[in-house]
Amino acid sequence: MYNLARQLLFKLSPETSHDLSLDLIGAGGRLGLNGLLSKAPARLPVTVMGLAFPNPVGLAAGLDKNGAAIDGFAQLGFGFVEIGTVTPRPQPGNPKPRIFRLPHAEAIINRMGFNNLGVDNLVNRVKAASYKGILGINIGKNFDTPVERAVDDYLICLDKVYAHASYVTVNVSSPNTPGLRSLQFGDSLKQLLEALSVRQQALTLQHGRRVPLAIKIAPDMTDEETALVAVALIETGMDAVIATNTTLSRQGVEGLPHADEAGGLSGAPVREKSTNTVRVLAGELAGRLPIIAAGGITEGRHAAEKIAAGASLVQIYSGFIYKGPALIRESVDAIAAMPRG
Ligand SMILES: Cc1cc2nc3c(=O)[nH]c(=O)nc-3n(C[C@H](O)[C@H](O)[C@H](O)COP(=O)(O)O)c2cc1C
Repeated sequence: MYNLARQLLFKLSPETSHDLSLDLIGAGGRLGLNGLLSKAPARLPVTVMGLAFPNPVGLAAGLDKNGAAIDGFAQLGFGFVEIGTVTPRPQPGNPKPRIFRLPHAEAIINRMGFNNLGVDNLVNRVKAASYKGILGINIGKNFDTPVERAVDDYLICLDKVYAHASYVTVNVSSPNTPGLRSLQFGDSLKQLLEALSVRQQALTLQHGRRVPLAIKIAPDMTDEETALVAVALIETGMDAVIATNTTLSRQGVEGLPHADEAGGLSGAPVREKSTNTVRVLAGELAGRLPIIAAGGITEGRHAAEKIAAGASLVQIYSGFIYKGPALIRESVDAIAAMPRG
């Protein structure tokens, strides 16, 4: 059934089809109809970051930036849903067009630039949702906040979303906000993580609940740089790492229409790079922090590959666009079929 929907949706511009799909998933969610679109995935409970997930396959950030369709996505069978990236103030993002499909490569290039309605709106959407499962809220900085003051934006968002999130993701890896990725390195990273950790402790006391913090990183670092991130995460007591965001590389799409568009590349071409990042992190972290893997899962076996590389959970975005909700169950089944031990 998704093949038919895809044929229609792919006739529209990527952003129109994105907006329409979000509306449909949201409306289906309100009517409680989305369970009919996909067979419920097998239960495959896992506990990660102290949270109990019904299955380890989640929706990656960026599809539901404003939390407009939380119930709808949950009903499709995701074990968890991550909304955002949200910024303190609403902002329009980059001029359109800003999403491009590369269907021959099962890939997407986007330079959305954190278009979103702001953190207050998102909190209201979360309050209005009936979903009681695991909800991640992904936070970022406004494009016009100087990167030296980025910490302030993350803290504003953390304060506001804290009471409403199962975990909070700190996005320092979008390629479409100038300077953002510099926060992944050296003193900038340490200062950010330390400030977040101090605030997390204060909020834990205030709310009587520790909300885990996950840091989302890019696949474009050298192995040495990735290892340094892992050390910083351990030193500052972070709770998880999400690997990865989109890549600036164009390996695997050279010569295809739209391959030269500016932005982050996702889908099949980023798979190996992302899995390598997971592997390097797993070696360095040695189980001290869980890894949530995203990047290029377009078939169930790719989800299992991420778990084999050391991840505890996976997330999908581009694969969901190309394969539809059936990919959720396929991924859960492939992980369930992995040899244990
Ligand atoms: C159109 C689009 C928008 C995205 N927006 C965000 C975002 O706002 N925040 C974020 O952390 N990641 C964002 N991502 C990255 C995805 O969450 C994911 O990390 C990445 O696409 C790799 O997974 P995939 O290959 O399954 O798509 C976006 C990806 C796409 C394709």
